[in-house]
Parts: sequence; C-alpha cells; structure tokens
Amino acid sequence: MDRWEEINTYAVRWIREAGERILASQKPLQIETKSDRNDLVTNIDKETEQFLIGKIRTTFPDHHILGEEGFGEDIRDTEGILWIVDPIDGTVNFVHQKVNFMISIGVYENGEGKLGYIYDVVRKELYFAEKGKGAYFNGERIPLLAQNRLEDTILALNPYCMVENRGIDPARLAALVRDVRGTRSYGSAALELAYVAMGRLDAYITMRLSPWDFAAGKVIVEEVGGVVTDVFGRPLDMLGNSSVFAGKPGLHEEILKRYLKGQE
Ligand code: IPD
Ligand code: CA
Ligand code: CA
Ligand code: CA
Repeated sequence: MDRWEEINTYAVRWIREAGERILASQKPLQIETKSDRNDLVTNIDKETEQFLIGKIRTTFPDHHILGEEGFGEDIRDTEGILWIVDPIDGTVNFVHQKVNFMISIGVYENGEGKLGYIYDVVRKELYFAEKGKGAYFNGERIPLLAQNRLEDTILALNPYCMVENRGIDPARLAALVRDVRGTRSYGSAALELAYVAMGRLDAYITMRLSPWDFAAGKVIVEEVGGVVTDVFGRPLDMLGNSSVFAGKPGLHEEILKRYLKGQE
C-alpha cells in the first residue's frame, strides 16, 4: 500500500463515520452567525470538524490541517501534506433544507492537490479523485468530460454574482445567463463542483470562495479534464479567498474569452 492509499483508506472511513454522526445526532441545533446574519455555523459544523481533525492529528501527526471552523492550524504556507477541511459545505442548506450539504476534504502536498473527497451526507454518495488516477463516484470511474456548446450549457451560478459583484460587470454575466440553456444554484460549492465533474453541470461561477470550499472539488474536476480557475482564468489561491470558475474543457476557454476576461 503506498502512502496515498493509506491516507485514502483512513479518509474514506472517517468521512463516512462523520456523515453517520451528523445524521444520527439528536442534539438540538445551535445556530450562530459569523461574518453576517446569512453566514451560519452550527454546533454540528464544529463537532464534525473537531471529529475529523482529531482523527487526522492522531493518525498523521506530521500532516498540517486547515479547517473552516478554526480547529486546525494557522496555516501560512502550503509546504508538506496539508488537509483542507470543510466539515459541512452548505450550512444554510443543512439548517433550512436538511439536504444538499457536503463534507469536503482536499489533501495537498506542497500546494498540489493529491486527493479530493466530497461526501453528500444525506444521499451517502462519495465523489473522490486521486491526482493522476482518475475520479470516482461511489467507486465507479467518472468518465472524462466531453466538449459542450455554449448554447447547450447548464451553468451553475451563485445569484449573489448579480447583486454584489467583485469585478465582473453584471451586464456581462446577464448576457451569459441569456446565452446558455439554463442556470442552477444549489447552495453548496462542493456539490456544484462535484456536479461539474459528473457532467451534470457544464460550468460553475461564483465570486468568493475560501480554500476549504474548493480544495476537494478542484482535484475532482481536474481529474476528469475540467478546468478550474478564478473568474479571470488565473490559478486559485490555496491560502486565501478567490472567485471560482470551473467548466468543461473548451467551454471554460470560450466563456472566459467572451464574457469574463479583460475585466480584471
Ligand atoms: C458556503 C457554500 C456556498 C457558497 C458560500 C460558502 P459553507 O460554504 O459553499 O455555496 O456560496 O460562499 O461559504 O459556509 O456552507 O461551508
Ligand atoms: Ca461557513
Ligand atoms: Ca464551505
Ligand atoms: Ca462549512
């Protein structure tokens, strides 16, 4: 068993166990706000992060951990093996809808994505990829993404892009929305990236994410030939916030050229 296989065996076990704990929890939900009244965190987000980080620390004491809820380390660089953990991606869905929330974990080595896990807790579905070895949905290989015409595109878009926009002219986005076949918004960046990898979505655009939102999804989408950048086509910052634009090969370039580029 190589090093990544060993890490993978543990990671899958812990993620499924964390999912079971979330589903089985009988505790009353304690909901707090973070940066604003729509930015929610619950006791279950915190407990799940503590559970996962506890396992990682005990088993791999020399690995580094970045966690959304702050139970990891204060990470300043990407040296060594770094676990990037989002215990619940889609907390607003978790609180209000009880569906479409994910456990999302990326494992990076010296800044390069090696393993990505997105676990759909309610559906008990696992999206996984290992760099260079393909992407899998519940253990079945996900096929490489095919080309897609702009007019046949299903685009996931965080509607927030239209109201408070950091950089892209909303009129350009409106033109894109008009030109594609349909738009969707699921409220979980990890799920949206997983859907891009599956070809259920052809592209996804959002204006501000943190590394824990996209660390896993980037590995999975790239492993099926998709492209993941910021909205101007630049590489994502693994230690800071970025806009994110993921899409099928070809289509990513076309959308970038026709609607997004030149505004940075
Ligand atoms: C959020 C979700 C959401 C995205 C937000 C994220 P959280 O993550 O991914 O889809 O639009 O920007 O913060 O807070 O539920 O883990
Ligand atoms: Ca959050
Ligand atoms: Ca998140
Ligand atoms: Ca979260």
